[in-house]
Amino acid sequence: KPKIITDKNQMRTWTRSMRSQGKTIALVPTMGFLHDGHLSLVQEAQKHAQLVVVSIYVNPAQFAPSEDLSTYPSDFDGDIRKLAAVPGGIDVVFHPHNLYDYGLESDLDRGANGGGFGGRAADSCLEESGSEHETWVRVERLEKGMCGRSRPVFFRGVATIVTKLFNVVEPDVAVFGKKDYQQWRVIRRMVRDLDFSINIVGSEIMRDTDGLAMSSRNVRLSPEERQKALSINRSLSKTKSAAERGELSCKRLKNLVVEEIEEAGGRLDYAEIVEQESLEVVEEIKSPVVMLVAAWFGKVRLLDNMEISI
Ligand code: PAJ
Repeated sequence: KPKIITDKNQMRTWTRSMRSQGKTIALVPTMGFLHDGHLSLVQEAQKHAQLVVVSIYVNPAQFAPSEDLSTYPSDFDGDIRKLAAVPGGIDVVFHPHNLYDYGLESDLDRGANGGGFGGRAADSCLEESGSEHETWVRVERLEKGMCGRSRPVFFRGVATIVTKLFNVVEPDVAVFGKKDYQQWRVIRRMVRDLDFSINIVGSEIMRDTDGLAMSSRNVRLSPEERQKALSINRSLSKTKSAAERGELSCKRLKNLVVEEIEEAGGRLDYAEIVEQESLEVVEEIKSPVVMLVAAWFGKVRLLDNMEISI
């Protein structure tokens, strides 16, 4: 069974003692409710370091007050059982309870109204909780399009929590899923721009046998919605083969996706074809691109993407 660490100072102490014994450490950040997609990241992590830490933390800073933080699914005991059953095993589950707790220098720092963000409207659930945290990491261009358009504080929250996890866990390697393609690119750019000495590994998308990309949110789909949601992967595959047959106009390719998903009864948030590293929108496919989709089925927003290299 993995060791469970819930305190950020104990986490750093563990890493430092392992590193002094010459061990290398890989981190897999998650928000829990683990599925085989997460477990595939764990197996990828095992290839890159001697020890593996999985963090489980539902980060309030990446949820807007209107989003699903309070209903985000969790099953900590189940998660531990799944991690214990991964061949090769893992070493630590980091399940922090005090990541945003800062001992303030004095109560004077709290300000007249008892601290927090006073009367200002909360951008995220972190601010809404009255946290004293006010430092953010922003990847200014990459955070703007696609998921950043419908979720304006999301990547700020992700980049900041990942920075905090990196500073607390101090891993050599961190593994992210390409399922959240924009997130993976944001983290890679952040690590490059801020000189983190951490190798960021991207891991392939795991799908259920019916083609739906695995996600903790899939449990909220009714059987009917799930059937409709298969249109996402289907539309991406169709688009990819159309591109491979020589259709290079992104406008026409995107239309294939829009039609397929809307016909199935999904509500499209966005469909974009972008350059793989810069995430710049392209009009005609000339170099490797990735086609990214976000769509609502009932109350569930699903993400998927497919790389197209022709
Ligand atoms: P979460 O949604 O729990 O995902 C954790 C990691 O698992 C991410 O890197 C994600 O891309 C990866 N993942 C999820 N589904 C996958 C699938 N079907 N195939 C491959 N990888 C998959 O992403 C987050 O948490 C958070 O934003 C986090 C990075 C932990 C910061 O809070």
